[in-house]
Amino acid sequence: MWEVHTSETAHDVRTVFAVSSPDATIEVSQMTTNDPRAVSVALQKGGVGKTTLAINLAERLANRDNDVLLVDLDQQGNATEGVGLSDAYSSDVHIGDVLEDGSGIALEDVIRSTDSFDVLPAHEDLDSVENSIRSATFGELWIRNEIVDPVLGEEYDYVVVDSPPNLGPLADASLISTQNVIVPLRMSEPSVSGFERMYTQQIGPIRKEIDLDIMAIVPNSLAGDNEEKRIIGDLEDSQFGAFLPRFARADHFEDSNSPGPGIRERIAFKRAWREGVPLAAYDPENDMLERLDELAAIVERGGVADAR
Ligand SMILES: Nc1ncnc2c1ncn2[C@@H]1O[C@H](COP(=O)(O)OP(=O)(O)O)[C@@H](O)[C@H]1O
Ligand SMILES: [Mg+2]
Repeated sequence: MWEVHTSETAHDVRTVFAVSSPDATIEVSQMTTNDPRAVSVALQKGGVGKTTLAINLAERLANRDNDVLLVDLDQQGNATEGVGLSDAYSSDVHIGDVLEDGSGIALEDVIRSTDSFDVLPAHEDLDSVENSIRSATFGELWIRNEIVDPVLGEEYDYVVVDSPPNLGPLADASLISTQNVIVPLRMSEPSVSGFERMYTQQIGPIRKEIDLDIMAIVPNSLAGDNEEKRIIGDLEDSQFGAFLPRFARADHFEDSNSPGPGIRERIAFKRAWREGVPLAAYDPENDMLERLDELAAIVERGGVADAR
């Protein structure tokens, strides 16, 4: 396991990664086909960039000529709002009805369209949906059986799920429904330890029962401080190094033509969200679009290895 040792003083947060477990079962997926695929963007920590990556990954996949469904499983509805569908958040019919037997509401009654991809919006009642999942037998399979499986490879080539920021039945249902996860990380100790917690408390237990691949680890909102250099370096040397996309590798620090590794901090991400559109619609020249495109290629290919 990737060990995280921290010693914290007022101005100094130190994190050290080390590979310690001899039975580490991490594997980089070797799939090299553009099969239909579902992926969750998840980390049990708020504010790391799950919603930002989910929206813009959906847009980049659609831009590469795929049919894409973005599913917002976060009760806060930030993805729904960020693609201009705030009104859906309190609409009469919603995802909860789709999951409820005998409601007469079908998935297509709830799905909305945007300029480039479709959206299954979040709803203010998502916490009662979570309670239903918790109390039902096999409720964690509902999202997979009622939403993802029926449309994947049919109406949609890719399904991207924006996950809630806490561990719980909805977060589990998200990973179980997609069996692939992209993990956004901020270059700070809380974000890194959030990943460690998710890895041991959620990914590990789910993997005992079904396949679940880490598709990529994406350092996000990097702004050029010393922490990012050390954390990227440690991450690259750990067993998780194989999950770093090429745009997120430490050699970008040495390249004078590069803004640095990872998804950089760009105010346009916030502004695009506020405008209710993906980054590409708000700022078509933004230098991070190319990197998000690489992330889309990784999803198409099924892993970091071989993605072009
Ligand atoms: N690369 C980035 N540059 C600048 N702001 C960003 C970046 N990524 C995310 N943000 C902003 O940070 C905040 C949290 O991001 P968000 O995607 O909502 O995180 P999460 O879904 O994990 O809570 C939002 O205001 C978002 O616009
Ligand atoms: Mg979010």
